[in-house]
Amino acid sequence: MNDIYGRNIDYMRISVTDRCNLRCRYCMPQDIPAVEHAEVLSYEELLSVCESAVDLGICKFKITGGEPLVRKDAVSFIERLKLLPGVKQVTITSNGLLLEPYLERLKAVGIDGINISLDTMDREKYQKITGTDGAETVLSAVLRSADMGLKTKLNCVIIKGINDNEIFDLLEIGRQKPVDVRFIEMMPIGYGRQFTGMSGDEILNILHTRYTGIEETKHKRGNGPARYFKIPGFLGFVGFIDAVHCNFCQQCNRIRLTPEGCLKPCLYYSRGISLREPLRSGVSRQELSQLIAEAVMEKPEKHRFSEQGLDEGADSRRMSQIGG
Ligand code: GTP
Ligand code: 5AD
Ligand code: SF4
Repeated sequence: MNDIYGRNIDYMRISVTDRCNLRCRYCMPQDIPAVEHAEVLSYEELLSVCESAVDLGICKFKITGGEPLVRKDAVSFIERLKLLPGVKQVTITSNGLLLEPYLERLKAVGIDGINISLDTMDREKYQKITGTDGAETVLSAVLRSADMGLKTKLNCVIIKGINDNEIFDLLEIGRQKPVDVRFIEMMPIGYGRQFTGMSGDEILNILHTRYTGIEETKHKRGNGPARYFKIPGFLGFVGFIDAVHCNFCQQCNRIRLTPEGCLKPCLYYSRGISLREPLRSGVSRQELSQLIAEAVMEKPEKHRFSEQGLDEGADSRRMSQIGG
C-alpha cells in the first residue's frame, strides 16, 4: 500500500526479541531488564500480523532482534512465515554468534538472505566492542553462509578511533567470496550517541586511495537503504548505509514491529500503534489490516537524526528494543 507521501510500503521488519547474547558498546553495553515473555508477541500472534500485512501488499519480511536466534524456535517461525500465502521474501539479520549450526536449516526453509554483523576481525577488539570472544565464530559463519550459496551481507559499523583501521580488512572478505560488505553510519540512537561513526562518503574517499575503477551500481541488492558499489576483482559489492546523512527517506518502504507488538512507522520516531491489545482481544484479520494501514499512514516524511539535538518525537529506546 502507499503512504501519504506516495511511498509503496511492502516491507516489514519484525523484531522477535529485545534480548541479545552480545553487549555491543553502542547498542546494549550492559544487562538491561528484558521485556517480560508475556509482553512479547507469540509466534501465532506474529503470524496473524503478517497475514493481515500481506492483505495490504506487505510481502517482504525481515526478522531481527535483539538477536533473533536467541529466541526459541526462531527458525521454525521463519519456516511458517515462508509458507504463508502471499509472502515473497523472508530475510534475517543476526550477530552471527549462534548462526552457523542453523545455516543448513535456514537454507532448507528457503531463507532469502542473511545479514551478519561484524565490526572487527580482531579477537581482542571484538571482545572490547561486544563484550564476548566471538570474532572467529562469526567470521566462520559468514564464510560458510557464502559457501552454501546463501545471499550473505556483512554489516560493519565503523567507529572512529576504534575500528576505522580495519576498513580494508573487512572489505577484503568480499574479494574472494560473494559477500556484500556494508558500512553503516553510527546512528544517535541509545548508546550510539556516545560514539563517532563515519559516513559512506568518508569511507568511499578512503577506498579510492587503494582501489581504482570503483563504480556505483544501480541494481537493487536488497530492500534496504544501502547504496552499492562494485570494485574490480571483487565478488561481493561494497555497500553504504548512510543512516544519518542519508537521502533515502523518499524511497523508504518499511514499517517496524517491536517485540511487544508496537508498529513503528519510522526508526527515528517514538510514535507507534500497539497491536498487542487488539490481538489479545480477538481482533479480526480485516480489523488488524486496518490498524496496520493506520500506522503506515502515520509514516513521517523523513527522520531528523542529523539535526541538533533530538526533538520530542524522537525515540529514546535503544536499538535492541526497536530492531534496527
Ligand atoms: P536488506 O539489505 O534488504 O537485507 O535490508 P537492510 O539493509 O535494511 O537490513 P539490515 O537489517 O541488515 O539493516 C542494516 C542497517 O540499516 C541497520 O543498522 C539498520 O538499523 C539500518 N536501517 C535499516 N532500515 C533503516 C531505515 O529505514 N532507516 C535508517 N536510518 N536505517 C535503517
Ligand atoms: N547505529 C548504527 N548501527 C547500529 N547497529 C546497532 N546500533 C546501531 C547504531 N546506533 C547495527 C548493528 C547491526 C545492525 C543490525 O544495526 O551493528 O549490524
Ligand atoms: Fe524511512 Fe524513517 Fe528510515 Fe527514513 S528513517 S528511511 S522515514 S524508516
